[in-house]
Amino acid sequence: MADGSSETKSSNQMWGGRFASGPDAIMEEINASIGFDKKLYAQDIRGSIAHATMLAHQGIISAEDKDKIVHGLDTILSEIDSGAFEFSRRLEDIHMNIEARLAALIGPAAGRLHTARSRNDQVALDFRLWVKEELQKTEKALTGLIAAFLDRAEEHAETVMPGFTHLQTAQPVTFGHHCMAYVEMFGRDRARVRHAIEHMDESPIGAAALAGTGFPIDRHMTAKALGFREPTRNSIDTVSDRDFALEFLSIAAIAATHLSRLAEEIVIWSTPQFGFIRLSDAFSTGSSIMPQKKNPDAAELVRAKTGRVNGSLVALLTVMKGLPLAYSKDMQEDKEQVFDAAESLELAIAAMTGMIRDVTIRADRMKAAAGSGYSTATDLADWLVREAGLPFRDAHNVTGRVVALAEQKGCDLADLPLAELQAINSAITDKVYGVLTVEASVASRTSFGGTAPSEVRKQIAWWRARN
Ligand code: ARG
Repeated sequence: MADGSSETKSSNQMWGGRFASGPDAIMEEINASIGFDKKLYAQDIRGSIAHATMLAHQGIISAEDKDKIVHGLDTILSEIDSGAFEFSRRLEDIHMNIEARLAALIGPAAGRLHTARSRNDQVALDFRLWVKEELQKTEKALTGLIAAFLDRAEEHAETVMPGFTHLQTAQPVTFGHHCMAYVEMFGRDRARVRHAIEHMDESPIGAAALAGTGFPIDRHMTAKALGFREPTRNSIDTVSDRDFALEFLSIAAIAATHLSRLAEEIVIWSTPQFGFIRLSDAFSTGSSIMPQKKNPDAAELVRAKTGRVNGSLVALLTVMKGLPLAYSKDMQEDKEQVFDAAESLELAIAAMTGMIRDVTIRADRMKAAAGSGYSTATDLADWLVREAGLPFRDAHNVTGRVVALAEQKGCDLADLPLAELQAINSAITDKVYGVLTVEASVASRTSFGGTAPSEVRKQIAWWRARN
């Protein structure tokens, strides 16, 4: 820290040595990040305590100065926690707000904290710590969502519903199986989260401005103290790198996209026309004009949050593209995108977990829909292959004619008289009726990962052992 005597009153206390006057008001406004980076205060203080402790251990600062610094930082932490701390925009960012307060509290010893450090490695550290913690929270939240789905899947391992492709009735499936599709999706999201935590588990502090430092620091010591696996290996990359933020955002964007697809299904399924589910009062709203309505607002907002999260990813990718190494101030624009995406994702996962736990499944409606639209036509074709020895293409053609007949008569496949089926293909016997029900259809699909209740239960057990 400048000693003050050579400084004009209005120039910056931290870097104002060569400046005759302070910044223009607009400069101050565009430059300041304190409005949002104050969120990093706990990480900043933790990082500074680790740094000061290492400096003293290495004999770079005295033990007395280190004690004063640590004590002062503890005081500042409780001031900020309690809301007593006054943030100043003139001090630009969280790093300088804390350092200025430290100087006010402990005097000249505060100026020794920034030895062998720059705001470039400091901000890289603070932000990395924050993102790592957020990833850990996301991992927990996803585990909760997966657990909710596992419970519903277990409850409804036998509940038959229509499976769709192109949103047209395709083949009967079980609701349990459909739930387990989301378990797979959120399971992959969680695996990406875990991988990202591993990936970013390196400590930036000690890279200094970009070139490292001549002071005999111990980066392994600070890495260990801050819970990182090891220090980063290239000081230039360390202060230029925001991959951890980009990885967080891309993971968040993919997870939000999954949540949005689920939200869309909830919106569709809760319409009177589908009527597959009934949302709880806790996760729906009424209309101020139409008393009969119950709107799936929470699902709609989850669907919409995806737009914000995906936007944040594109925004930060665009900030980073074309930046020369090493640090550029552009990178200050990384935080708001991550903070906003993190808040949106947290809220979306929480709302979705609540909805999945609360929703009423209308098994009767699902089953009725599963039987409509000739959903067991493939079962008929498969039966012709298996029992009558037809090549699948021929079986497909025969089945197409059976469906056309049922359509013409306005009945289901199972309601067609045997004689009329035999008129289309003489190999058909009355055993065929056994595969035309939706229950028989799902029970037959025992291939690994298939929709048969027995198979779904196996997959539930597999996930339970890993959740
Ligand atoms: N507030 C800055 C940021 O968020 C801290 C790093 C400033 N470094 C610098 N060389 N001006 O990026």
